[in-house]
Amino acid sequence: MTRIFTATATLVTALLLPLSTAAQQSTDPENGKMVFNDLCAPCHADKAARPGTQALTIKYRNGNIPAPLEKRTDLSPAYIETVVRNGLFSMAPLRKTEITDSQLADVAAYLTQKN
Ligand code: HEC
Repeated sequence: MTRIFTATATLVTALLLPLSTAAQQSTDPENGKMVFNDLCAPCHADKAARPGTQALTIKYRNGNIPAPLEKRTDLSPAYIETVVRNGLFSMAPLRKTEITDSQLADVAAYLTQKN
């Protein structure tokens, strides 16, 4: 019985794996890195005088979460997309004319690829 279950589970996994891989391939982290450099790095680069990095340095001063977004491993694509579309405290929202849904998905894929 256990054998049949294991065999079935393996088969189901084998059948579903290509689907999940295909879903991941619809985003392009390499393009996301370029979009990040254009649209996010002016505020979020790992450098001095970047307002996003500065604000997050203060926000996480008592924890061990790094301020530069590219060093984070705790962000989810859904959180990143929500912050970018709605804004958060001192970060203004970005419109679809500033960053398309597809570019935003690529940035989110880039920022979460080390998770
Ligand atoms: C004009 C400056 C500016 C730009 C451009 C900007 N941000 Fe931000 N961002 C901020 C600031 C400031 C904060 C801190 C908000 C706060 O006080 O919590 C922030 C916060 C965030 C957070 C929340 C992090 C956390 O720990 O809660 C995410 C995610 C984020 N930004 C993603 C992005 C992405 C992705 C882009 C590019 C598409 C971007 N931001 C562009 C200024 C900016």
